[in-house]
Amino acid sequence: MVDSKLNIIIRPCMYDELQSVISINESTLPENYPIYFYEQIMEKYSDCFLVSELKNSPKSIIGYVMWRVERGISSFGIQLIKKGHLVSLAVSENYRRMGAAKKLIIESMKKVSNYNINEFVLEVRVSNIPAVKLYQNVFNFKKIRVIEKYYRDGEDALYLALKRENMNFI
Ligand SMILES: CC(C)(COP(=O)(O)OP(=O)(O)OC[C@H]1O[C@@H](n2cnc3c(N)ncnc32)[C@H](O)[C@@H]1OP(=O)(O)O)[C@@H](O)C(=O)NCCC(=O)NCCS
Repeated sequence: MVDSKLNIIIRPCMYDELQSVISINESTLPENYPIYFYEQIMEKYSDCFLVSELKNSPKSIIGYVMWRVERGISSFGIQLIKKGHLVSLAVSENYRRMGAAKKLIIESMKKVSNYNINEFVLEVRVSNIPAVKLYQNVFNFKKIRVIEKYYRDGEDALYLALKRENMNFI
């Protein structure tokens, strides 16, 4: 997908771009992972592992999103369902508020939907106002519960979920 106004391209991450993704992750988030974690996501869900790059600077990655698919109890009922779980999302600081995260999420949710999932779910730090606003205000994710001390430093997480049928941006 090419957005002509903002000149941001959203496309699958290539294996030789993992180091760029890791650099963005490590400079923007305290939740960091060994390279094999990224490789596993890439092996299983490469179609849902997307990057954003500037159209005029190929290979200049400014953001990424990763998902996995899992089974679990619905956030909205008691059925056992398939969920798309957002593993990680980040945009380099210099390129924020340009719509990159919004586009990454839209394009990746379309891909995750192909796995016949019923819900999208994610955890986010209670203090992470930009991300909470993005998920709740732009995509209409619902707050399901607070997971106390979810993060290694003791911060609580909000567990947010969105029914696939309420994904209304396509
Ligand atoms: C959260 C994050 C991914 C947003 O990326 P972004 O590319 O700047 O977001 P977008 O430009 O697509 O923003 C879309 C909407 O989200 C909301 N939003 C994004 N950043 C916001 C902020 N700092 N304050 C308030 N609302 C914000 C707004 O509604 C925004 O729309 P608007 O700009 O028209 O008002 C980015 O701030 C980031 O990488 N943060 C560090 C990593 C992180 O927290 N990841 C999420 C972990 S769960």
